[in-house]
Amino acid sequence: MAGTQTADARLTEVVNDLLANLRGLIRKHQISHDEYRRAIAFMMETAAKGEIPLLFDVFLEATVDQVDAAGRGGTETSVEGPFYAPEAPLLRSPCVLPHRANEPGDILLLSGTVRSVEGDALSGAMLDMWQSDAEGAYSHFNIPADQAPWNLRARVIADQSGRFEVQTWVPSPYQVPKDGPTGALLRGTGRHAWRPAHLHLRITHESCETLTTQLFFSGDPWIDSDVVGAVKQSLIVTPAKHEDPKDLKNKGFAKPYYSVVYDFSLPRVMRKAA
Ligand code: BEZ
Ligand code: FE
Repeated sequence: MAGTQTADARLTEVVNDLLANLRGLIRKHQISHDEYRRAIAFMMETAAKGEIPLLFDVFLEATVDQVDAAGRGGTETSVEGPFYAPEAPLLRSPCVLPHRANEPGDILLLSGTVRSVEGDALSGAMLDMWQSDAEGAYSHFNIPADQAPWNLRARVIADQSGRFEVQTWVPSPYQVPKDGPTGALLRGTGRHAWRPAHLHLRITHESCETLTTQLFFSGDPWIDSDVVGAVKQSLIVTPAKHEDPKDLKNKGFAKPYYSVVYDFSLPRVMRKAA
């Protein structure tokens, strides 16, 4: 039969199911031709404004993450989101993330150990870190790269014992971009655009599965209503506040700082028998 020889079985099954569901939805909600054309115009505008990744990540990535991580073991995963930038500067732990001379907000020291799920230290594990600043802005997206290249982003190499110690700044909650079609859809369906403050991490080691996750902060006003739905209880940390003047002086900090200790655990790569 013409056209069937190159058909991909998985693609066919998924697309057939998607179409059956969309056709059922059109019948169930009696979608008019005018609404159908508006949906197409919405997708055209989303593509024209470069918001396809944002739209999908806001509404669907947390579900993909849940499905993908089922039965995984080790530290829980969370979504990558649309603000990752590959090839950030390579730094060795201990280190300070790239920042501006007047970086706003409070200093945060993040430390811990990267291990396999069996508890073996993962020497030289790499922690690719990115986050918003204390005003909710991401470098390369809403802080122009020429003003602050790689601000609060780096690939940090852990030491031989899998230990890492990184100085960064406490991020703040932020609203996902809401001036375009994604924002219009959020508003039109009665949703807010807030994400609770978080640190993004993508941790790799040759012997293990990559861990893409986020750390959140207890007490955050949006912790229970993340627009993306990506918060998991085991990823919520409570930073300790440090204000001892001697300690501050030793560290050269002009004001109190915060610290979080968090150990990560990665499942081993499943190697197929030869
Ligand atoms: C984020 O984590 O930054 C993010 C994730 C999904 C959608 C939008 C933003
Ligand atoms: Fe984020």
